[in-house]
Amino acid sequence: MQRKKLIAANWKMYKTPEETRGFFTLFLPLVSHHHRDEIVVCPPYVDLATALESARESNVAIGAQNVHWEKEGAFTGEISSIMLLAVGCTHVIIGHSERRQYCGETDDTVNLRLKAVLETSLTPIVCVGEVLEEREAGLTEDVLRRQCTRAFYKISAKKAGKLVIAYEPVWAIGTGRTATPSIAAEAHSLIRAEAAKNFGQEMADHLRILYGGSVKPENAKALMSEEEIDGALVGGASLDPNSLAAIVKY
Ligand code: PGA
Repeated sequence: MQRKKLIAANWKMYKTPEETRGFFTLFLPLVSHHHRDEIVVCPPYVDLATALESARESNVAIGAQNVHWEKEGAFTGEISSIMLLAVGCTHVIIGHSERRQYCGETDDTVNLRLKAVLETSLTPIVCVGEVLEEREAGLTEDVLRRQCTRAFYKISAKKAGKLVIAYEPVWAIGTGRTATPSIAAEAHSLIRAEAAKNFGQEMADHLRILYGGSVKPENAKALMSEEEIDGALVGGASLDPNSLAAIVKY
């Protein structure tokens, strides 16, 4: 099954609008002829307008790092899918481990966000992954199954068509420790099997599962060569235009 790879940059809480503009000035010419893979950059909310303006008419799409499940309302500090679409975003990250760890994100709120996003034309990138203690205790499979089952709860196969999953073992995020391509591929197969259970084999065959956790220009090729790995969610190494371009062109 040929799946077009997706390279997504997760900037986390880095860069001002001015730094965003500077990034795109350098980055876009480096990837302007690159059509093999889809490219998405997810900056902080306050940089979205600058990113969208900078990347207009380019082959780089722009996404957000989180989204609320309601369309609007008294939810101070939150942003809705409708708002992201209105400014021109096409993608949104849901359930990143840092939000699970520091901001009270749970499997249930991931499900609420995912359901809301699938009602729109946004492409959701749902993050799953085990922490180190879970891996060491042999619980990786249970954790991934639970995260997938709960995230997919009451979502129909018809709605799930655009879903993208990012497998991010938490012990590999920002630590310089990367899962080996075979560890990642094994987790991806399990996630694909969970998707098949929920949404059917055809959907699962088309589902893109990205790997995230210390992806760098030096390890991108080995990871991307695995048939089960359909792209990358890149944090630290996505902040530098040359480094992100090198990953895109692995
Ligand atoms: P990292 O982050 O590439 O800095 O490890 C990945 C992520 O958190 O999405």
